[in-house]
Amino acid sequence: MSVLRIEGSYSLEGTIKIQGSKNGVLPVMAASLLHNGTTVLEHVPKIQDVFCMLGILSALGADCRMEENRLVISASALTGTKIPETLAGQMRSSVMLLGPLLARLGQVETSLPGGCRIGKRPVDLHIRGLEALGARVETGDGRIRAVCPAGGLTGVNIHLPYPSVGATENILMAAAGAQGETVLTGAAREPEIEILCGFLQAMGVSVEGAGTPVIRIRKTSAFQDTCFFLPGDRIVAGTYLGAVLCAGGRVVLERAPAGHMERTIATARQMGAQVETLEQGIRVSMRGRPRPVRIETGPYPEFPTDMQSVMMAAAAIGYGTSRIRENVFENRFCVAKELQKLGAHIIIENKIAVVDGVKALKGASVAAEDLRGGAALAVAALAAEGSSFLGGYEHISRGYEDISRDLAGAGAHITLVP
Ligand code: UD1
Repeated sequence: MSVLRIEGSYSLEGTIKIQGSKNGVLPVMAASLLHNGTTVLEHVPKIQDVFCMLGILSALGADCRMEENRLVISASALTGTKIPETLAGQMRSSVMLLGPLLARLGQVETSLPGGCRIGKRPVDLHIRGLEALGARVETGDGRIRAVCPAGGLTGVNIHLPYPSVGATENILMAAAGAQGETVLTGAAREPEIEILCGFLQAMGVSVEGAGTPVIRIRKTSAFQDTCFFLPGDRIVAGTYLGAVLCAGGRVVLERAPAGHMERTIATARQMGAQVETLEQGIRVSMRGRPRPVRIETGPYPEFPTDMQSVMMAAAAIGYGTSRIRENVFENRFCVAKELQKLGAHIIIENKIAVVDGVKALKGASVAAEDLRGGAALAVAALAAEGSSFLGGYEHISRGYEDISRDLAGAGAHITLVP
């Protein structure tokens, strides 16, 4: 098992190129199955979640080729309706194949996504949405089985009582292959929804209202071959912004999607960073210890839950007391006990973490237990005196192409020890 070795107390200087969006590309890969033809995706991140999704698409009969950051998916010969259990178990995002497979092949079967380390993650809203479009869905023995009625799915008005990102994506993909118009109210507004809608539009689907709570979607003609460029990953960019908050220095984040990072940038500024928007991304500069903040996570445009652990790491070396409230995933605070091993002072009570900043963290052996928590530990270790060893790299590589390459490129002393 690989371990990251990180030496702390070096400030960062340089440029980091931000990889393509993970949470953008996964639904787009799923949506490519709607089309009996070829999709070309550019700026695809080379991460384990993408490789896992590629494994599933191939197992279902799609022909997939990845060359550097370009992915070509040809779904003409798609026949499989059963998502292999081992692959579905590795990645919760496999649930987003329900919508496109139902629309394309009329039936689908997968395992119910199990509990995840950051929380329960039910799929009731996905299922209710697909049922509203006419699908018959059965769950039992840890499986989900869904079938279309004889005439296929039919567009309808659907209201989501909570703006779930995954449920919004699943419903949009199923609706893109349904007869007639679907109006989805209470939709998630995350930038990844706009990415998916942009892709569906490029395939020939009529979509209005992406990025708002009301989305109207209708298939107007046959799907068409598409070449689509993925924007930079806002959470990866935010992670490296957090690295500068912790370590200090001055770094340009190329392709950071500043327009979709408002709350993260605002929080970094409150903590004392200077953040400038450039044509090619953003420039972050930081001197001294971070100032304390209050953070409350929520659906976009509120503060992203995926950025919460990284900001907790920065608050841990700030001066004063920060308060963080996690409203989206109940177990996101599991990283706190590892940060404590580095010397952080954090008290958790239900949904609230109180972080008392300390002057310096101390290098230690710690382990990532989830993707963003792992990234937060890497960032915290940059500000710790001496060496840290970070295990659980398999969680980090789910979402970061090469965190050691990126941070080392900006002067950090970080290596991946095989
Ligand atoms: C996606 C992102 C994840 C991000 C999250 C919130 C991907 C691959 N993952 O996850 O990184 O942290 O959005 O921005 O894009 N819920 C239900 N019933 C459902 C679905 C969700 O109760 O059917 C609840 C969840 O338990 C959670 C909340 O809704 O408490 C948010 O979940 P959701 O927005 O669906 O997140 P994901 O799509 O799983």
